[in-house]
Amino acid sequence: DWKVSSFVEQSIQDIRKRVGDKKVLCALSGGVDSSVAAVLIHRAVGKQLTCIFVDHGLLRKYEADQVEEIFRNKFDINLIRVNAEERFLNRLAGVTDPETKRKIIGEEFIRVFEEEAKKIGTVDFLVQGTIYPDVIESGLGNAAVIKSHHNVGGLPDHVDFKEIIEPLRSLFKDEVRLVGKELGIPDEIVMRQPFPGPGLGIRIIGEITKEKLEILRDTDYIFREEIAKAGLDKEINQYFTVLTGMRSVGVMGDERTYDYTLALRAVTTTDFMTADWARIPYDVLEKVSNRIVNEVKHINRIVYDITSKPPATIEWE
Ligand code: XMP
Repeated sequence: DWKVSSFVEQSIQDIRKRVGDKKVLCALSGGVDSSVAAVLIHRAVGKQLTCIFVDHGLLRKYEADQVEEIFRNKFDINLIRVNAEERFLNRLAGVTDPETKRKIIGEEFIRVFEEEAKKIGTVDFLVQGTIYPDVIESGLGNAAVIKSHHNVGGLPDHVDFKEIIEPLRSLFKDEVRLVGKELGIPDEIVMRQPFPGPGLGIRIIGEITKEKLEILRDTDYIFREEIAKAGLDKEINQYFTVLTGMRSVGVMGDERTYDYTLALRAVTTTDFMTADWARIPYDVLEKVSNRIVNEVKHINRIVYDITSKPPATIEWE
C-alpha cells in the first residue's frame, strides 16, 4: 500500500542519484502538478533547479504574485518570473475564434519559455509534471506526446536539454495532492480547482482586451470569495465567471446604461467529462450578484448558467 512519506523519501533519493550535480529546468504554471513536481525536485537538488514562470496576463486576480510569493519566498526556489501580458495581448488583438486563441496562447507560451531558457544556457534535465492519467491518455506511455489540446504548451522544441524528469509519473491526482501537502505546499495551490492553460483568455467571449480582463478578474474574485464564505468551495468542483460579449440595457440612478452581461458558471463533476450545474442556494447567488453590480463597473446584468455537460461544455469557449 502506498505511503506518501516513503514516496517522497524514495523520490528524493532517486532524483539526487539521477541528477548528480547537474542543472534542472522547470516550467512552473502555478497548477497542482507543476508545483508539486517543482517542490519535490527542489527538495532533492536545491539551487540546481531553476523554475521559469510565464505570467501571460490571463491569470486570476493576485495569482501571479501568489505564485512568486510561495515559490521564491516560502520555498526559496530559483524563480524567473516573466511578465508577458503586453506581448500576449498584442498577439491576441482582434482574435475572436476560441481555437485560434488557444493556439496563439500555447505557441506564445512556449516561445517565451524558450527565450528565457536560452538565457540560462544548456541544462541537463527538463521537469515535466506528467501524472499517471496523462501517461495513459497519451497511449504510448511516452511523455513526449503529451496531450496538446488541454495543456498549454506540450514540449518546447528549442530548449537545450538532455533528459526529461517526471517525478509524478506514477501518481493519480489525489496522490499528487497528498504529496504536495506532505511537502508543505499551501492548500491554495494543492487543493485548487482546475484552471485552463489559456486561462481567462477563453472566459472572455470574443476579443480579449485589457479592460475586459480587469472586469473578469474582479468578478471572478468576488464569486470565488462568496463561494468560499458559503463553505461551498469543496463540493463545487469548478466555478468561475464568464464575460459574455453581449451588452444590454439597464438603469442606474436616473441613467440608462448599456453594459456587459456576466455569466456565473459552477459545476459538480467527478471526471470533468460530464458535469451537472451546481445548485447554489439563492441567497448566495443574490449576494454574488449584488456585490458584482455594486463593485465592478460595466456589468449591469448577471445570469446563471443552468446547463449540464453535455450538451454544454464547462467553459464557454
Ligand atoms: P470543457 O469546457 O471542455 O472543460 O467541458 C473540461 C475541463 O477542461 C478544462 N479546459 C482546459 N484546460 N486547456 C486546459 O488546460 C484548455 O484549453 C482547456 N479547455 C477546457 C476546463 O477548465 C474543465 O476543467
